[in-house]
Amino acid sequence: MCGIVGYIGPAKASQILIDGLKRLEYRGYDSAGVAVHTPAGFAVAKKTGRVANLEREAARHVLTGTCGIGHTRWATHGGVTDANAHPHVSSDGQIALIHNGVIENFSAIKRFVTGKGYTFQSETDTEVLANLIAYHYAKEPAPAADAEPSRLLESVRKSLLHVEGTYGIVVMSRDHPGELVSARRGSPLILGIGRGENLIASDVSAIVGRTQNVVYLKDGELARVTADAFAITSLTQGDDVVPVISQVNWSIADSALGDFAHYMEKEIFEQPQALENAMRGRFSEDGSTAQFGGLNVTPNELRQVDRLLFTACGTAWHACLVTEYLVERFARVPAEVDYASEFRYRNTPLDPNSLLFVLSQSGETIDTLAALREAKRRGYRGLAITNVVGSTIAREADGGIYQHVGPEIGVASTKAFTSQLLLGAMVALYLGRMRDMSYADGKAYVAALKAAPDLVRRTLTQAEHIRGIAQRYAGYNDMLFLGRLALFPIALEGALKLKEISYIHAEGYPAAEMKHGPIALVSERCPSVFFVTKGELFPKVVSSMQEIKARKGPIIAVCTEGLELPPGLADEVIPIPDCHEAVLPIVATIPIQLLAYYIAVARHCDVDKPRNLAKSVTVE
Ligand code: M6R
Repeated sequence: MCGIVGYIGPAKASQILIDGLKRLEYRGYDSAGVAVHTPAGFAVAKKTGRVANLEREAARHVLTGTCGIGHTRWATHGGVTDANAHPHVSSDGQIALIHNGVIENFSAIKRFVTGKGYTFQSETDTEVLANLIAYHYAKEPAPAADAEPSRLLESVRKSLLHVEGTYGIVVMSRDHPGELVSARRGSPLILGIGRGENLIASDVSAIVGRTQNVVYLKDGELARVTADAFAITSLTQGDDVVPVISQVNWSIADSALGDFAHYMEKEIFEQPQALENAMRGRFSEDGSTAQFGGLNVTPNELRQVDRLLFTACGTAWHACLVTEYLVERFARVPAEVDYASEFRYRNTPLDPNSLLFVLSQSGETIDTLAALREAKRRGYRGLAITNVVGSTIAREADGGIYQHVGPEIGVASTKAFTSQLLLGAMVALYLGRMRDMSYADGKAYVAALKAAPDLVRRTLTQAEHIRGIAQRYAGYNDMLFLGRLALFPIALEGALKLKEISYIHAEGYPAAEMKHGPIALVSERCPSVFFVTKGELFPKVVSSMQEIKARKGPIIAVCTEGLELPPGLADEVIPIPDCHEAVLPIVATIPIQLLAYYIAVARHCDVDKPRNLAKSVTVE
């Protein structure tokens, strides 16, 4: 969850590190820090709170070096204090380290290094590793100048062989200002290969300002990086690894805020374009089905699939639920959804014709990655729908579909979610057309998906109307979201969006379930957001609304255009375009994103960096 950046080259490192940290801040914002080599040893500046605090703190230090490391923290071991902020320096001053992950056997290591005379300033697991590397460094014979492997590399390798847990680390040694050593197990790390300079980071966003050429480190790999070279070896065997250099297709402009107040707002309004990007080139020439380049499963194999499993976390899990509905409805293939954190331990029975899909915007969520690995360990094929090209999940999946919506920076997922809904609908279409869906139905389905960006554009014109509603409801402390069928997961998503950015207690339910418990919450102080659409369930949803109204609960109805609600039933109505069942969840999502966003703004919440959260959850 923490953000990591390292720089080595001819330029002043501290500014490059701080700029990188600003772009990584969505990964964790409990504290931030940098350490650079100076002729007098390491100069370290760290501060709780945002990178802006660190920037002020850094101005009070002499940070002149051209090699350094920086970190934004999402606290795991130890509270949010300056002392617990990274980088951590070993008590002999030899090693400086930044770390993302959790050292599970930190107590045993701490006992060991304490016995060797090393001392501690913080409560973190990371400082234990800094001291362990320092211990091995002190024991390591000094090699001849320019000898390979380096003393630092070997001491990192020896130390990591004793570590249980997960890590992405970047390490410097006081006596060797010309090198950085990095290693990963379970936490992402990327080398940015520049001209006469190199970078190491947890995400490409920290690198793209200086280079588009990257190498994705794999688990169990160690890298030694100097200003003009890098070498990767395997942690356990010590063998050289032949690096694969990839080009990043994001530019720094993609992560600029522009005229928007928040990334979440920008990303909400980007959705028409994001949907167009996600569907581009993915329909057959005759316009009757979808096509995917990277699934790596033949149509024949797909026809054999008799059960689909979808797994993910958070918002991506809601996208799985909608996809489950569409796959069963349009492809008639039994589908199931599981939380990735449960799937990985649940030992779900799978049969040879089961196919697993994992969904993950970041492609780094540790539970989702573990679910994928578990399915693969058991010999099943695992496909991924993910946004971040080159992410760990993208690389480890047997095949998959990229979302192509550009960087999503707001911690609350928006455009990644609607593009997952779109791709899930396209998977349902693809599988459906291989089975019973007619050519005519396929054509209508494709036409409906192609219209989705315009329908979203139309729905976004409700923004001012929704802002007005938000201002009237921003003072409430509880809210219910109620929908049916494919809009039930959108109710869950509405509740999640609201609670994560405005801290209002909210719950999502299938509308008819409300009578089985949640209705006890209803009063004039607990509004309900209903999704109301035409079809056989319209009268049932209206009955549920009547039951809420009878108990004085205020009602906000997200309602398809042209539907007549009984007069006075809804206190507020947000119209959405009537559309194909596969597109409705996408369109219905827009009002709940805007409602959550404007309520959070009205409550003066930090929309893009909600308390306690981080963009990508890379610890269990
Ligand atoms: O990167 P992922 O899609 O795997 O992330 C999954 C969840 O952590 C994420 O959707 C989270 O729930 C968001 N904060 C939701 O807005």
